[in-house]
Amino acid sequence: MLAANPFSLVGMNILITGASSGIGKSVAVESSAMGANLIICGRNEIRLQETFDILHIDKNQIHKKLIFDLKDEESIKEISKNINNLDGVVLAAGNDLIIPFNLTDRSTLSGILDDNLIGNVSLLQNLIKFKKIESNSSIVFFSSVNGTLIGSKCHSLYAAAKGAINGIVRSLANELSRKKIRVNAVAPGLVETGLFDLNKGIISTEEFLLYQKSYPLGFGKPEDISLLTIFLLSTASRWITGQIITIDGGLTINH
Ligand SMILES: NC(=O)c1ccc[n+]([C@@H]2O[C@H](COP(=O)([O-])OP(=O)(O)OC[C@H]3O[C@@H](n4cnc5c(N)ncnc54)[C@H](OP(=O)(O)O)[C@@H]3O)[C@@H](O)[C@H]2O)c1
Repeated sequence: MLAANPFSLVGMNILITGASSGIGKSVAVESSAMGANLIICGRNEIRLQETFDILHIDKNQIHKKLIFDLKDEESIKEISKNINNLDGVVLAAGNDLIIPFNLTDRSTLSGILDDNLIGNVSLLQNLIKFKKIESNSSIVFFSSVNGTLIGSKCHSLYAAAKGAINGIVRSLANELSRKKIRVNAVAPGLVETGLFDLNKGIISTEEFLLYQKSYPLGFGKPEDISLLTIFLLSTASRWITGQIITIDGGLTINH
């Protein structure tokens, strides 16, 4: 027989990177409403506090916040040692980069890999090394339709970071299955967050309107992504692992 509510996160300890903004912030707020105890992470102290202040707190729910840059290896190590008994990890920190390939160089490549891939993976490596992740846990990475199903122009380095995440998800899901730890990625299309505002400023109004038309259900809201993430964190998704799950309002139907 199934648990009373297999979608519930009550009593689960979940760490979320990128919780100071956009999707990570929404995942934090909605997961707290589903009963989880959270450790929210971000770089920007003011924005992270804003997330912290709107987290749902029921009796027995405890939340913590950690301010650090995922480029800082020493902080990652220290933090990983001091965390205990995680049932879920959401790696939502990341940055977009729209730039013609001929204007990129080695440092642009390492910058985008650092923010999307290396920092999140290093944190996960340390959490696993220090045995901080419980059996039957769920790890959720953030990929994108870019680098998974489509390759929009001027997105090659970002797509490289997301493609690498997809590779890690598939292999690690296999490796951690012996402990019943599940590993999946969410691959969104365009979601209206800080990244969205950034992109809006780069392209022309005509390009933007055309782009909007390519989304049969319109652009996504952070909450659309939170609902899928909560499903992947919960026991309702207990038989799903190693998947890159597209959520894009129908964008890729037409590709
Ligand atoms: N929005 C979209 O359309 C879209 C589409 C596909 C995939 N995604 C993916 O979804 C994830 C979340 O995106 P979003 O739209 O929510 O972005 P966002 O609103 O810009 O938020 C990015 C978050 O990542 C954190 N971050 C970035 N670099 C970091 C670093 N070096 N160390 C620590 N934290 C860092 C930021 O922290 P601070 O605020 O503290 O700087 C912020 O909390 C990303 O992986 C993104 O690639 C987004």
